[in-house]
Amino acid sequence: MHIDVVTTFPEFFASPLDCSILGRAQRSGAVTILIHDLRNYATDKHRVVDDYPYGGGAGMVMKPEPLARAVEDLLGEGELECPVILLTPQGQQFDQAKARELARQDRLILLCGHYEGVDERVRQAVVTEELSIGDYILTGGEPAALVVIDSVVRLLPGVLGNPASIDSESFANGLLEYPHYTRPAQWRGLSVPEVLLSGHHAEIRRWRYKEALRRTRERRPELLEQLELTEQARELLSEIEAEDNQD
Ligand code: ADE
Repeated sequence: MHIDVVTTFPEFFASPLDCSILGRAQRSGAVTILIHDLRNYATDKHRVVDDYPYGGGAGMVMKPEPLARAVEDLLGEGELECPVILLTPQGQQFDQAKARELARQDRLILLCGHYEGVDERVRQAVVTEELSIGDYILTGGEPAALVVIDSVVRLLPGVLGNPASIDSESFANGLLEYPHYTRPAQWRGLSVPEVLLSGHHAEIRRWRYKEALRRTRERRPELLEQLELTEQARELLSEIEAEDNQD
């Protein structure tokens, strides 16, 4: 995969993209990531990329020409043929399903918004989708672009040491993850659930599924409502409900 990021703060990305799994993913060739300074696409000598809002009001607005020129330059001749994503709090909420969808693309262009927003015509002319990473306001689209890059790149083939962990992690099956334990078996008077020490794989699988259901029911009941529950899930949920009623 190739990812282009257009930003007014290229230096923001240096260290997070270089370390850990993202750094390794680039060195292994699983992904190439290029950071482009939006100011290089301004045409005046002060390299201005923002201006006052028509109609007045506080804050500055990102000008349309530098952003459009950046995207068109990156795409070269021809039609827009890859997702051109504007990071903005007004976008569609980013989630694991979206990360999986983006991980299937050959190329992404991420545009980091700043100031009060971007000229609306940029959306009409070059943006194919808008993503928000949550209902809060960041200083700019850069941290959001990093979140998107991180969650997409780790899904690319060969990037994670143990791809099986992707299948069992939170949201993979629409549920939160079951609780994890490692040694020691006893710690500060707290013990690891007996079944995990039993070596009985079928029972361990059942316990984990049940605890994933319990955790999701307690913490994110709306996720359960979106799922088509299996026969076993319904059975385990009734057990959980009965246990709750005993308490
Ligand atoms: N820019 C500012 N806040 C943002 C958010 N929550 N998501 C995406 N881009 C943003």
